[in-house]
Amino acid sequence: MTEEEADRARVAVLERNFDQIFEENEDEGFRFPWLADTTEDKTLLAPVQFSSLRTARDVLRFAQVTPDDIIADLGAGDGRVAITAVVEFHAKRAIGVEIEEPLVLKGRQVAAQLGLGPERLSLHCANLMSLPPEVDQALDTCTLFFFYLLTPAFEALEERLVRALRRGARIVSLHFSCRRWTPVAHSEDGRCWLYTRASLPPGQE
Ligand SMILES: C[S@@+](CC[C@H](N)C(=O)[O-])C[C@H]1O[C@@H](n2cnc3c(N)ncnc32)[C@H](O)[C@@H]1O
Repeated sequence: MTEEEADRARVAVLERNFDQIFEENEDEGFRFPWLADTTEDKTLLAPVQFSSLRTARDVLRFAQVTPDDIIADLGAGDGRVAITAVVEFHAKRAIGVEIEEPLVLKGRQVAAQLGLGPERLSLHCANLMSLPPEVDQALDTCTLFFFYLLTPAFEALEERLVRALRRGARIVSLHFSCRRWTPVAHSEDGRCWLYTRASLPPGQE
């Protein structure tokens, strides 16, 4: 198989797994009923709502992901943005954190189908509000944080996010923006915001 054919095969795996779920999700509304009772900790920063594969691509293009990037996907769902970053944008690595175990298991299945080992992709089942130390440390290596969580999540995770911005990471958010920071870019379609260290208020940077 040529490299081009292998790439096409990998994209087909993404489309098979992620486009279909999005359509079901669109029909059903914001949250899958079968997930309603799976979360013990109720510190939810957003309901389950998947990005379509097209949106994942748009966000990653807007954030100008390069092969040097290590992506953090906070509230990763089934890891579709993290996986797309590695497969289609050739990001060096992606780390996803998601509280709903069935979604993490689904993402790991897709990663296995794609042959992505832990050196390229790791999906952790954890609460962003109380991260295990090893996951917290891994996030400190990330150069780009992706974030599709509700606006209050910016405040809930402020300490971690400010730490990331201060050491030069960028943050891209989808659909929800941070009231306290000044975005350095806003996508043409109005759905994404990009933040860097320059976004922090004077005195905080
Ligand atoms: C709007 S969905 C986005 C899913 C995925 N990032 C995407 O774009 O398809 C938000 C996700 O955050 C997860 N989440 C909410 N609160 C969380 C928390 N405290 N810790 C970890 N994940 C959380 C939800 O379970 C849900 O999967």
